[in-house]
Amino acid sequence: MMRNMPTKPTGTATGRLEVLGNHTDYNQGLVLAMGVGFTLEVLGKKRSDGQLLLHAKDLNQSWEGSLDDLSPRPQVSWANYILGVLQGLKDRGVPLSGLELEISSQLPMGAGLSSSAALTVATQRCLQNLWGFSMPALEMAKISQEAEHRYAGVKCGLLDPTAILHAKKNHLVLLDFHSLEVQTIPFPKEAVFVVASCGEKHALVDGEYNERRQSCEEAAQLLGIRSLREIGLSELEKKNELPDLIYRRALHVVGETDRVGKASSLLQKGDMEGFGKLLDESHESSRINFENSIPALDQLCESSKISPGHLGARLSGGGFGGSTLHLIQADQQTEFVSTFQKEAERRLGHSIEFFVTRPSGTS
Ligand code: GLA
Repeated sequence: MMRNMPTKPTGTATGRLEVLGNHTDYNQGLVLAMGVGFTLEVLGKKRSDGQLLLHAKDLNQSWEGSLDDLSPRPQVSWANYILGVLQGLKDRGVPLSGLELEISSQLPMGAGLSSSAALTVATQRCLQNLWGFSMPALEMAKISQEAEHRYAGVKCGLLDPTAILHAKKNHLVLLDFHSLEVQTIPFPKEAVFVVASCGEKHALVDGEYNERRQSCEEAAQLLGIRSLREIGLSELEKKNELPDLIYRRALHVVGETDRVGKASSLLQKGDMEGFGKLLDESHESSRINFENSIPALDQLCESSKISPGHLGARLSGGGFGGSTLHLIQADQQTEFVSTFQKEAERRLGHSIEFFVTRPSGTS
């Protein structure tokens, strides 16, 4: 514990779950997302000497530096993200004078809940409270994204911070990364989500993510469009002159935006069976077309399919590890969990971590 810190959090954020719409954000597509019931809290205090004292309570690690040198320190990843936020604010002319921050998080790192975006959003909320300024959500999301791009080397889209900024209790958030419109849709009480960690950390930084992004850009270029949002599924299906790999990457992304469109209408009608089928299709497309699944994620989805109450399951987030998301019937939660856990542990050969959640928010 740092000394004389406030007792109430100065900035809070939830983790986020990508419900449907995989790798669509940086292709200007659609995503359905939600907040999860875990939070990351930042306690903060101003200083007047330009010094930075940062402490990650759960990791029991501290980092000290100065506002004059905000260069990336990738070896201390949590502090690195905070430096990224500070740099983003400095670039926008926000005057800061030094500070002490203490971070505590219930969010498992590397599980696909975007603990890094929760950290950058909660830090911004904390700084806004301390210095009494505000910023539009889109600008805040851009600051978080810049921290990922410039400080962590991941060329991610705007999904994670935007979903966190708009997360709302008992609602899914429909994000359109072309128009930048945000809508919230009530989530019926008949369904809940189970989130299971496959036990293998996802490491977006290792280049796979950036490589996928490059393939999507190449696809758009070959198709003569600015982004994959500009083409529909039926039109894409006629473009068989694209190289196979590039075609499959594009098919996943264009298919995902199509599925999100359908899923949003089904959700509004309360058709959770139809909604669930789209999640299953999404995973299949990740596995075959985008190749961002791994066997452990596939096994979790397969275990789900044979469990009572299963409506749909897919990998959530960047892929290559992390978590799966399972949509299940709320009244079969107990039966689902017991069969799913047994089956998944049998298939994976080790115990699994999972939790049950409904959409939540902090704002
Ligand atoms: C990660 C990125 C997001 C998004 C998802 C995939 O979570 O940070 O921007 O691209 O992967 O949909």
